[in-house]
Amino acid sequence: MADSSVTITHDGTGKSVQLPTREGTAGTPVIDIGSLNKSFGHFTLDPGFVATASCESKITYLDGSAGLLQYRGYPIEQLAEQCDYLEVCYLLLNGELPNGDQKSEFDHIIRTHTMIHESLRGFFDGFHYDAHPMAMMTGVIGSLSAFYHDSLDINDPGQRMITAQRIIAKLPTIAAAAYKHSVGQPFMYPRNDLSYTGNLLHMMYAVPAADYEVDPIAEKALDVLFTLHADHEQNASTSTVRLAGSSGTNPFGAIAAGTACLWGPAHGGANEAVLRMLDEIGDVSRIDKYIAKAKDKNDSFRLMGFGHRVYKNFDPRARIIKKIAHEVLATYGNDPRMELAMKLEEIALVDEYFVERSLYPNVDFYSGIIYRALGIPLEMLTVMFAIGRSVGWISHWQEMVSGKMRIGRPRQLYTGEVQRDVPAIKKR
Ligand code: CMC
Repeated sequence: MADSSVTITHDGTGKSVQLPTREGTAGTPVIDIGSLNKSFGHFTLDPGFVATASCESKITYLDGSAGLLQYRGYPIEQLAEQCDYLEVCYLLLNGELPNGDQKSEFDHIIRTHTMIHESLRGFFDGFHYDAHPMAMMTGVIGSLSAFYHDSLDINDPGQRMITAQRIIAKLPTIAAAAYKHSVGQPFMYPRNDLSYTGNLLHMMYAVPAADYEVDPIAEKALDVLFTLHADHEQNASTSTVRLAGSSGTNPFGAIAAGTACLWGPAHGGANEAVLRMLDEIGDVSRIDKYIAKAKDKNDSFRLMGFGHRVYKNFDPRARIIKKIAHEVLATYGNDPRMELAMKLEEIALVDEYFVERSLYPNVDFYSGIIYRALGIPLEMLTVMFAIGRSVGWISHWQEMVSGKMRIGRPRQLYTGEVQRDVPAIKKR
């Protein structure tokens, strides 16, 4: 539906083209440039998608200047307070919150899809003991496609839903297996009587030789963190899932691609990078030095956990996470990194460089401190993010595949050599 239009005119040729604009239900309107090349003979150039919408979506809305995040119209603050993670998964996948019966049925489905094929479990033995868990996650998630042939028809809505449920249910099992492999402990099978996060804690920390009781504070904290990480519209990893999936590849392959993207320090890998940075800073007295490094354009150092492409105001997730961090630390004992992080935030928020560029703490700034307080090792922090985000990835894949899907194929501005003849080897 064209709401209005814009006309652009080429200064050189005087040629004009009228392009329709479209309004969503909220947010910045877009100019539909689909016909631009045909009628005008130009592509658009937007490295990093700074001003380009890659798709239409009904899943998540965020307003970066207002610091607002909504899943299917519900504010993140209300969802974090009133719903558990599996309700949020249901919401993202289906568009509505579940009623009591739907919630019980969905919980049951997820709890009974937690096991992974025994042969798949054997894959972990092929990894060296010091393999990064994100490397294992990427490989093993992609390998799911070799085991679940019964749900690979992307045109069948029933099979798509089973795949979504398998992704949500099995990622904690794969994550825990990666952890157990890295510490050399036996794999713990999932327990269907436990909650989603209770089961994850059990698979990570229980050992066959002793009883293990799930700590309800850790269980709840993880649940809220997963809700906060569940979706974030067209972020890099979700866009990767969409682009990979747009070729019609199987969903497990597409989610593996998203997992690989998430690993980078500019994205989900930032939570691990924040803790490494705090450890490197080490003391409040050294903050000024690191702030100066972050501002120095000749230094590649960036203040990790700070800044966001879309949020130019406080990241609403960071606000909730900071509160949970205080609650968790009150139970598990203080972490000197919390004090350091708060001081760093305080200094950065009044520093002209950060103020001018609207750089605020993002979701990753405090999340790592909570995970560490819960005993989750540094290398597993991005894995935790991946578990929470898995529902967002599969919901976006599902939305794309069930709509009018077209392969994603960006254009380029070619700046290389123009045609030339290959010289004989002795003349090169
Ligand atoms: N420390 C110092 N300077 C920064 C930072 C930072 N963390 N972030 C942005 N800047 C500066 C940047 O140098 C640039 O300055 P100038 O205009 O003088 O060239 C300006 O702010 C704009 O930055 P940008 O790189 O153009 O912004 P972007 O939208 O391309 O990048 C970002 C966004 C999140 C990748 C970036 O802010 C960053 O690298 N942050 C640190 C890594 C991080 O915390 N990532 C997690 C993001 S939130 C969760 C997630 O997506 O997974």
